[in-house]
Amino acid sequence: MNEILKISSVSKTYKTEHGPLKVLDDVSFSVNKGSWTMLVGASGSGKTTLLQLLGALDKPDVGTIQLSGSDYAKAGSFASAKTRREKLGFVFQSFNLLPELTALENIMLPGLFKSSDKKAVKKRAQDLLAKLNLSDRATHKPNALSGGEQQRIAIARSLINDPEIILADEPTGNLDPSTSDVIIDIFKGLIKDQGKTIVMVTHDHALKSHASKVLQLDKGRIVKRA
Ligand SMILES: Nc1ncnc2c1ncn2[C@@H]1O[C@H](COP(=O)(O)OP(=O)(O)O)[C@@H](O)[C@H]1O
Ligand SMILES: [Mg+2]
Repeated sequence: MNEILKISSVSKTYKTEHGPLKVLDDVSFSVNKGSWTMLVGASGSGKTTLLQLLGALDKPDVGTIQLSGSDYAKAGSFASAKTRREKLGFVFQSFNLLPELTALENIMLPGLFKSSDKKAVKKRAQDLLAKLNLSDRATHKPNALSGGEQQRIAIARSLINDPEIILADEPTGNLDPSTSDVIIDIFKGLIKDQGKTIVMVTHDHALKSHASKVLQLDKGRIVKRA
């Protein structure tokens, strides 16, 4: 399988009022296209920080992160924003939908940052809504949707620009088990039917059975690979 992401010897230290805090320590791994990587580990072990680096939202102090061979560290902020917009989709534990926008508008928003063809973006958002069985929720605002529905909207939003990689930080963390199964089935379909690549942080060990690779972090180091 071909490698889409390559993380080499990445370290990250935050400056805090109590002095430097090393959060990632010499982390290396690779992610194959069409695979499902899960990051597990105790709270504070560095999972979200790592996902932010993979998402080009922050840079490592040391080490390289390569997406299809090109290094994030060498990219300026404009190029990083383009990578985020066009190559990556983000899904969060708390959904992060904009409360003033309808479901359809939330899905369209990142599409409008990429394309000025509003009609085409709307059509694509409607297709995504249909695919996720949410067509009848198009005009609802987030507060009129259940948690599972909000997360499906957030997944549709992450897909609007047809990213290669989906980065998800505890996407089922706020959902009950049966709703969480729906989200996992959607992810499974994205990999199987569309060849998407998923890197996901989770606390739910039951989900590991779906993973191509499980990386366990402890105090910023990968302590177990399965
Ligand atoms: N922006 C920041 N500034 C300072 N410390 C941070 C920052 N973000 C996270 N941390 C600290 O880094 C450590 C790892 O955090 P995080 O990556 O969020 O871990 P996890 O997602 O595994 O719970 C924690 O001790 C946290 O308090
Ligand atoms: Mg976290």
